[in-house]
Amino acid sequence: MAIERVLIVGATGNIGVAATIAALRTKREVLAIVRNKQSAEKYFKHVGTRDGITTPEADVTFENGVQSVVDEVKAGKLPSFQHVYATVGKWLGTPMHEIDMASFRDEMNVAFEANFFAYRATIPYLLQQNNPNSTFTVCVGAAAQYGAGGVTAITQGALSAMVNAAIRENQKTNIRINEAYLAARVEYDSDAEKSGAMKASEYSRCYENILSKPEIDGCAVKVSGKQDLDEPKYEKKLG
Ligand SMILES: NC(=O)c1ccc[n+]([C@@H]2O[C@H](COP(=O)([O-])OP(=O)(O)OC[C@H]3O[C@@H](n4cnc5c(N)ncnc54)[C@H](OP(=O)(O)O)[C@@H]3O)[C@@H](O)[C@H]2O)c1
Repeated sequence: MAIERVLIVGATGNIGVAATIAALRTKREVLAIVRNKQSAEKYFKHVGTRDGITTPEADVTFENGVQSVVDEVKAGKLPSFQHVYATVGKWLGTPMHEIDMASFRDEMNVAFEANFFAYRATIPYLLQQNNPNSTFTVCVGAAAQYGAGGVTAITQGALSAMVNAAIRENQKTNIRINEAYLAARVEYDSDAEKSGAMKASEYSRCYENILSKPEIDGCAVKVSGKQDLDEPKYEKKLG
């Protein structure tokens, strides 16, 4: 059987490393978009290997960033992919009444739009490939539900709504759309060892479950602690 591959947008962050570890553990390869070589080196260090990983460079905050990578895949210059994990973002935390509009727009661009661009660029490709096992996953934090982080909360609410719309749009397609809903702190293993947060290599089990269980389809897969990793907790997002 041909090897499957996961395209990860936001690969170099805590959650992107977790998604990478899940892909490699399930014998898949990874196409990890990085913004530069320095970011790629940090990423390899935290993943612990370079094997099975290709790192095309693009600015995913631009409308054509992920699209430029998909275009290279289509042209045969990069390997194909069947799964997508979108997890670009950053924590801002400035109170909403204090934030200047340039910072507001930057946060919306990085923590929401980049993931939206990832959806728009990859879904037509996944539909065209028509692989029956395709998935598209977005990590959504609990900030919206808890009203935490000012504008960051707004980005997470928008992401959750985006996943709902994506589930609706793909109900009859080959793509399983899911939200990795995270109400815990996940960090690179080396940082988590010091802080006590959940390790990326532990949280990776959440994505292993999404990849391997076809019944996780149109769901929010909720993790609020290590107790949610062995037995995945998931429920349909749409009524
Ligand atoms: N970690 C958690 O505990 C947690 C909890 C709840 C929800 N989440 C969700 O997961 C998302 C990612 O979290 P994380 O902890 O993995 O964040 P992170 O470690 O800060 O990584 C974020 C990713 O986005 C990229 N990025 C950030 N700003 C960028 C910019 N201006 N241009 C291009 N790329 C940029 C980073 O690239 P570089 O590596 O090159 O900087 C990295 O790949 C969050 O936004 C949130 O939605 C995370």
